[in-house]
Amino acid sequence: MRKKIVIANYKMNYTISEAEYFVNSIKDSINTNEVDVVICPNFVTLDRISDTLDGTNIMLGAQNVYFEAKGAYTGETSVDMLISANVKYCIVGHSERREMFCETDDTVNKKVHSLIAKDLNPILCVGESLEIRNNNTYFEHIKSQIINALKDVSAEQLVRNVVIAYEPIWAIGTGVSATSEQAEEMCKYIREIVKELYNEKVSEKVRILYGGSVKAKNASEILNCDNIDGALVGGASLTNEFVAIVNY
Ligand code: PGA
Repeated sequence: MRKKIVIANYKMNYTISEAEYFVNSIKDSINTNEVDVVICPNFVTLDRISDTLDGTNIMLGAQNVYFEAKGAYTGETSVDMLISANVKYCIVGHSERREMFCETDDTVNKKVHSLIAKDLNPILCVGESLEIRNNNTYFEHIKSQIINALKDVSAEQLVRNVVIAYEPIWAIGTGVSATSEQAEEMCKYIREIVKELYNEKVSEKVRILYGGSVKAKNASEILNCDNIDGALVGGASLTNEFVAIVNY
């Protein structure tokens, strides 16, 4: 049985004190018995939010990482730096990073490996644009993103560390979520790809999430689908709606 996981992606929102205030206001209402919960605030906020989450089972995630261990990479953050802030999860290959910050399949794969090597958990994001959806080439697109991102990742590493998030770009921040049928169809397809690349046992263990305009009102329909093991939540994670989503 795969435990569901709900992940908050604060993106570039909340200063340190704002994030601390907000997380303090929701943390006691979040029940982690049935659902793993991860909060991904921005880098400067991580250390403070780690303290804020102390004593809870809510886990801390980062929104990005650089794959090199250390050195002259101005503006970048290493896996060890994330570990020093108590980070357990890290978003990799979010479409905003792919589109605006030149993240490629190759850098996504390198980031996945650098996180796994230190036993952190990549939240590997894949998703198609509206153009690709309308062209009807979205299955091939997602398959190629997954194959490239998981290059040289072993079955054991995949099961132990990786979470895959299907996030159609046309649904992110638009208020237009994929329907639960569309989300389930793609999450099921991703599970089939994992089965092809590894084996059935692995495909049954890996957690596959949906992200894109998940709100309190559509959370339960989406999260009750057979192949959807959780949600990656942007906008609604900045408000009390997040509590309702976790307690779907
Ligand atoms: P959204 O963002 O919930 O605001 O659509 C999701 C995401 O980008 O992870």
